Amino acid sequence: MTIDRRQLLATALGLSVVATAGRPAAAATSSYEEAVQASRAPLRATPRDRELVRFATLAANSHNTQPWTFSARGNEIVIAPDFTRRCPAVDPDDHHLFVSLGCAAENLVLAASTLGWRANPIVDGDRIVIVLEETPPAASALANAIPLRQCTRATFDGRAIGPDALHQLENACREPNVSAILMTERVAISKVADYVLEGNSAQMRDKAFMSELVSWMRFNEADAVAAMDGLFSRASGSPSLPAWIARPLLRFVFTERGENKKYRDELDSSAGVVVLAADHSDKAHWIAVGRACQRFGLQATALGLKYSFVNQPVEVAALRPQFATSLGLGDRRPDVVMRFGTGPDLPKSLRRAPELVMRG
Ligand SMILES: Cc1cc2nc3c(=O)[nH]c(=O)nc-3n(C[C@H](O)[C@H](O)[C@H](O)COP(=O)(O)O)c2cc1C
Repeated sequence: MTIDRRQLLATALGLSVVATAGRPAAAATSSYEEAVQASRAPLRATPRDRELVRFATLAANSHNTQPWTFSARGNEIVIAPDFTRRCPAVDPDDHHLFVSLGCAAENLVLAASTLGWRANPIVDGDRIVIVLEETPPAASALANAIPLRQCTRATFDGRAIGPDALHQLENACREPNVSAILMTERVAISKVADYVLEGNSAQMRDKAFMSELVSWMRFNEADAVAAMDGLFSRASGSPSLPAWIARPLLRFVFTERGENKKYRDELDSSAGVVVLAADHSDKAHWIAVGRACQRFGLQATALGLKYSFVNQPVEVAALRPQFATSLGLGDRRPDVVMRFGTGPDLPKSLRRAPELVMRG
């Protein structure tokens, strides 16, 4: 008897309905929705530091590990890495971790500005020190987009994007010492897709990468709410299943061939791809990349567009130099790869409450 992936999934889904039918599943869904609402409620002026931290944590971050802590004293907020949440397999040199801190810093700067605080992040070793100075409040489309932004791992609708919107997306990435390569030609996108597929194959054959990835997967609402971090299945377009069903099923439904097809479809249906590359490869520059990529995601959201990261070509170290050469980057390290376009809304991912990430 041959095993059909869709049949397996359908059987599992049937089982899951039996296993989770009734109140417990409904309760888990409603507490998931409540958690989303709580973390993404509109920004309030007080308590200032808690609110700024809440908005900072809504930033994109690798595997949604939320690898940060915040400490606030007077008019200074410090963002520091939480190395207990690092991902040694996918991110052995903590590149993504520091990019994630840059994403959080950018959200904090934008949110502070709407509350009447000018914030200028300074990188000090591993930490980002942000001093707040009073200034007239300035609303902005990017700050408004903070609670709405999400990484949308779905097939887009293939629609092209007009020159004005492209220009705004390119502008959003402007950051000293960071270059943005924006591609909308099908041939260029397809070449990036080739690297994404090659990187994905390498990662899916790598046991350490796969076990780390699975450890951050949250297969259903109840597990996601219990952890308030990680990659929630429905936020990635997959069904919600009890973990005892999902885990053994993974090797049948989460295959190299299936994922490569998914990534090809995702890139073929995207309006464009942007690669960010800093002039140097160190923590300060990775943080700068984070600030630029967060603004890109917020600008896309403000324009009603969707985006997601497809970082396989920059995560697989053996592939990175070839990918850099294909983009004309020479010795520079390509830092992040994002695709964008028009697509559906998916459930939002969760964040731990500010109290859990604030120290002192
Ligand atoms: C440095 C960095 C690398 C990331 N790499 C990937 C990636 O390769 N694939 C992917 O699907 N998402 C990637 N993400 C997106 C995160 O998984 C996502 O931000 C996180 O799960 C939280 O979800 P949200 O952004 O929708 O709130 C990356 C994010 C950052 C900041």
